Amino acid sequence: MPSSSFFRAVLYFLLFLFTAAPAETPAPLRNKPIPTQIPGQNAILMGVAWYPEQWPESRWEEDLRLMEAANLKVVRITEFAWSRMEPSEGHYDFDWLERAIGLASKHHLVSVLGTPTATPPAWLTQKYPDTLRVEPNGQRVAHGNRAHGSSTSPRYREFCHRIAEQMAIRFGHNPNVVGWQIDNEYGYAQMSYDEITRQQFQGWLKAKYGTLDHLNTHWSTSYWSQTYDNWEEIPIPVGEHNPGLMLDWKRFITYTWTSYQQNQIDAIREHAGPHQFITGNLMGFFDGFDHYPITGPLTFASWDDYVGTGHVDSAYNGLAHDLTRGFKRQNFWVMETQPGAVNWSSLNNFLNRGEARAMAWQAIGHGADDVNYWQWRSALNGQEEIHGVLVGSDGTPVPFYNEVAQTAQEFAKVEDVFRGTQPVSEVALLYSYDSHWAIQFQRHTEKYDDIKLLTSYYRALRQLSQSVDVVSAYAPLEGYKLVAAPSLNVLPKDLADHLLEYVRNGGHLALGPRSGMKDEFNALLPQRQPGFLVDALGARVEQYYALEKDFPVSGAWGDGQASIWAEQLKSQAPGEEVLLRYGRSNGWLDEQPSVTTRAFGKGRITYIGAVLDDKLMASAAEWMTHKSGVTPVFGPVPDGVEVSRRVSAGKQIFILINFAQENRRVALPRSMKLLLDGKWADSVDLTPYGVAIALDR
Ligand code: GLA
Repeated sequence: MPSSSFFRAVLYFLLFLFTAAPAETPAPLRNKPIPTQIPGQNAILMGVAWYPEQWPESRWEEDLRLMEAANLKVVRITEFAWSRMEPSEGHYDFDWLERAIGLASKHHLVSVLGTPTATPPAWLTQKYPDTLRVEPNGQRVAHGNRAHGSSTSPRYREFCHRIAEQMAIRFGHNPNVVGWQIDNEYGYAQMSYDEITRQQFQGWLKAKYGTLDHLNTHWSTSYWSQTYDNWEEIPIPVGEHNPGLMLDWKRFITYTWTSYQQNQIDAIREHAGPHQFITGNLMGFFDGFDHYPITGPLTFASWDDYVGTGHVDSAYNGLAHDLTRGFKRQNFWVMETQPGAVNWSSLNNFLNRGEARAMAWQAIGHGADDVNYWQWRSALNGQEEIHGVLVGSDGTPVPFYNEVAQTAQEFAKVEDVFRGTQPVSEVALLYSYDSHWAIQFQRHTEKYDDIKLLTSYYRALRQLSQSVDVVSAYAPLEGYKLVAAPSLNVLPKDLADHLLEYVRNGGHLALGPRSGMKDEFNALLPQRQPGFLVDALGARVEQYYALEKDFPVSGAWGDGQASIWAEQLKSQAPGEEVLLRYGRSNGWLDEQPSVTTRAFGKGRITYIGAVLDDKLMASAAEWMTHKSGVTPVFGPVPDGVEVSRRVSAGKQIFILINFAQENRRVALPRSMKLLLDGKWADSVDLTPYGVAIALDR
């Protein structure tokens, strides 16, 4: 006899079919200009990192000719060229650069200038050793790698300001320079562990807390005799330390790199025309600093999308794109991506043929307006000699060049319809660096990985909604039908109020495990989880458990397993409904609620107290999207096919990509124009890594 879970599965399938009708008309757009699309240029662009300083000038023309032939439109240059632009202190040489930019424009390529502050020249670091970073072990780094400058050194900042300023004076009004990249990957957020930094950290704490009493109270320093009697006693944490101190150190790192960046932005803005954008190349889920404040002053966010070993995980990569789009809640650029292989991973395998093209289109689908390969051609010597390239050491194209050329040609062919378009979602996932760090500091089980959990929510929710925003927990939430926050560990009162307002006004908030445990000082809240949201939820966490093995759970979402983490929920108020319960497990959890939900205000709040297996996560997502009235943007697609949508008034574009290793047929919800082959169709056949762009208006 079929089990009750069988009937539930059938029910959910029917519900999915019922709700799976695609949105007929595009959802209303948040009306913001799209600064990622450069006036006068194609709406979607492709480019490369190019290093003219590494080659004789006589070679440039051939490089640029080959780029133009491949339909590349952007060169990012100069981010490591300091010694060439300022060969000795105060002597600048930009003539060569002006010629390179001019020659690029002759080949219809615009330039993005990187400030070269990731690589201070030897004359600088030798004459002023205080500009070099000090490692946690007290040793100054040696010259010859990169990111060796000290982001806290006032002298280093002065040099950074000067070179950025000189570049801006010379190129701030050059019509062929469309924008700027500050530094390169923000020195991987590495800090200098020197006295200057320590003093700055102490000063920052003083400005934040005002009195030591205040600081001592919030950090609970009576624990282990940590009490501070003067600011100079406070150390930079190395290794494990007080959680309040550790979280503030992370925030100080964020502050340091934000002001390091601002120093250069100020230098550029004073001299550059307003048409030139300023961005920085971030790194997906890199967590050295909080990306929301650091992207605040940028025109738009960019990121470097590398796979490393293996092949692209379309969900994880899509999530990283959406994370980047969420930093400023607008389109973004992929400033660098992998030309087949990298040189820094454990196994630098090559992407399969067609995989990079699929990745480039995926980026566009998720809201990128430019994709640049790193790099055009390797220097003949240097640390990255054997990284992937478009042009070999002999200066002629490698086979990968053709795949880039094909993709860039497709970009150029269809670019116009992308003008003014962006993804729009009804579902948001909340991400919080504070919560991420708080959990990292005290994982409790090494298996608890909040990014993996976020990815499992994303996978399940995106499959159904086909468009998900990833935004800061403090982002405006009106307009979202469903907001899910797995692992929102740090949930102070102001954030709880913000979330409650969303729920009161009709939103559905779903919290995942470990939520609502800490305040902004990384101290335990004097309430049980989820802290300030207990009353609205009508339930609280009685006790939590790191699991050494999986435990059964069952209920409205079916039967399955809880793994890694389980919380025992208890009803606190009428109206709360239990959706899942643990089965026989460790005695404590037996028959106890694992997931509860409650209507509150005009909306609903749901708490998921365990890490659920994939099947349960899928039915959780079905229940959440259905309950919240979320509609898929396109409708059913076969397994392994990713669909993304970009919207502008009166039209929507669907980007369909087959990440499965077999052919797939996708039925279109209605007849649409397939832009790559120019035909109208009701369905489309996709080979592995196949891409179709369907215009619906
Ligand atoms: C990074 C850097 C580039 C280059 C590539 C290699 O992301 O920004 O300069 O080193 O990696 O993959």
